[in-house]
Formats: sequence, structure tokens, C-alpha cells
Amino acid sequence: MKRFLGFALSAILLCACNEQNAKENAAKNSPAEISQNETSKNAVIYYSQTGTTKKVAEEFSKQLSAKIFELKMVTPYPSTYDSTIAAVKRERESKTHPTLQNAKLNLTSFDTLYIGYPIMFGTFAPPIYTFLDSNNLSGKAIVPFCTYGSGGRLASAHEIQEIETNANVLIAFGISHKRANNSAVNVADEIKNFIDKVRAGAKEEILVGAYSEERALTQDDSAAFIAATKDYAYLNLKPLAVSSQVVAGTNYLFKCTMQAFGAPETLVSVKIFAPLPNQGEPQFIEMMKN
Ligand SMILES: Cc1cc2nc3c(=O)[nH]c(=O)nc-3n(C[C@H](O)[C@H](O)[C@H](O)COP(=O)(O)O)c2cc1C
Repeated sequence: MKRFLGFALSAILLCACNEQNAKENAAKNSPAEISQNETSKNAVIYYSQTGTTKKVAEEFSKQLSAKIFELKMVTPYPSTYDSTIAAVKRERESKTHPTLQNAKLNLTSFDTLYIGYPIMFGTFAPPIYTFLDSNNLSGKAIVPFCTYGSGGRLASAHEIQEIETNANVLIAFGISHKRANNSAVNVADEIKNFIDKVRAGAKEEILVGAYSEERALTQDDSAAFIAATKDYAYLNLKPLAVSSQVVAGTNYLFKCTMQAFGAPETLVSVKIFAPLPNQGEPQFIEMMKN
């Protein structure tokens, strides 16, 4: 069995790769694995609990003309949010992954796998661990896509690359469930633009230029922080200071204390991206240990 990434907090911290890892991962990205004959070479594989990721997965499959596989749990998570939180916590504490009806897939004819999931506790939902454990993805190109409350795209993509060291994780797509289910948002267009980027061999952006000096939080900083961490309440993050960088939107680096899952308080840095007005909500990008 591949390495179990464990209890929620350690999973989150493992996801919280540093800048160097981000650069190394980005440098590995190569369009070479993307076949010219995409129609037969792409597959979409996803898990969805409440249907948002399913919707996004079906759009990917349609636009790529790709075969689609839904990962199904033998015993699905309960139907309410709170009881699902409790069930996922129990799994993590007992170091088990859920059993799937169809964990092992025949993927030999595909070279690019679009793998979709909801973010749960800062990373991909547990059925994805079962899928990764059950299949040999060496040599595959992987395009992660996710839906979330307030973020987790990059952290989850980094964790896939950490587990699948012999696969090549390309850029990742993410969208909040609020936007994915808002009929005023053209999700199909966002997916199309993203697929175009994959085809062009785009890499995760490595931002050049420095962050500002650390400063006390302004009202705008606090608003971005609150919006981007609303689904990370379990981390008990308290922002102490912030630095920022204006790009097409704003990158924030918040220095915070974190106290989660009974562990002692620690200092962490939380990266948040706030898009330009009307281009989406602030997103939780990743968290780094100080
Ligand atoms: C157990 C659980 C944990 C979650 N953890 C996070 C989280 O850490 N960060 C986040 O932004 N959203 C989190 N969410 C929200 C889901 O990622 C979001 O609702 C997603 O769109 C659900 O996708 P689905 O409809 O495909 O199941 C969590 C939801 C559940 C049920």
C-alpha cells in the first residue's frame, strides 16, 4: 500500500508544500505526455459526494470526449455535512481509506488522467487515496480538478504528486461549489480555458517579484482572510500579520497561529489569492509550516 498520509492535520501540513516544492513540481510539468490523439488517450476519473464535482467532471468529459469513471464507495458517506465530517475524521484517526466498488480501473489505454474530487480537510477526498493505492499510475500525466468551499486546489495537487512520484502532475483546476452551482457563472467556459492551457503545456504560475513588508491587517486583508478560510474553521487560524503582492488580483501571505486537532499552537503561513473584482472569491491556496 502506498504511504498513508494520515490524520487530517498531518495531511494538511504535508500538503502545505513550500515554495521550493512548488517550483520543482512546476518545473517537472511538461506537455510531452499529452497525446495528439487526445480523444482516446484522456480519461476523467472522479469522486463526488454531493454532485458538484460530478457536474464539473461531466463537463470535462464532454469537452475532452473522454471516457468517464465515477469512483463509488461501497458504504457512502452519510448525507449530512456534520456526519460526513465525523466519518472522515474517524477514517483518518483509524488510518483507513474507504472501500470502493470500483477501486481498480483498467487505465492502460489512457495517458492523461483528469482526476476530480471535492476538497476534504484541505486535500482530496479520501476515496482518492483508495484509487491511488489501487492503481499503478507510473508514466501517466495527471490533471487534478477539484471543487471546494473556499480552496485547496494547489495543496491537493501537490499531495497527488508527492504520492505519485512516477506520474507527472500537470496544472490543476479548482472551483468553489458556490460558483460551480451558480447559473450566472459560465463553468463550461472556465473549463474550456483551462483545457486550452493544459494543451498549451501551461505550468502553475511561479510568481516573480517580492511580497510587501509584513504589516498589520487592514479591513480588506481581514475580509479576504475570512472568505478564504471559512471552510478551514477546524484549523483555528488567527492571522497576526500579512504581506501581499499585487498580480492579476492579490496574493497574500498571512502569518497565523494554528491550533487544530488538540495539537499545540504553532505558527504557519497561509497563502491566499484574491482575484480581481467579479472574477471569483478569495481562495485558500496552501499552508506552510513556519
Ligand atoms: C468532510 C468535508 C470536509 C470538507 N473540507 C473542506 C476543506 O477543507 N476546504 C474547503 O474549501 N472545502 C471543504 N469541504 C467542502 C467541499 O469540498 C465542497 O462542498 C465540494 O464542492 C463538495 O463536492 P461534491 O458535491 O462533489 O461532493 C468539505 C466538505 C466535507 C463534506
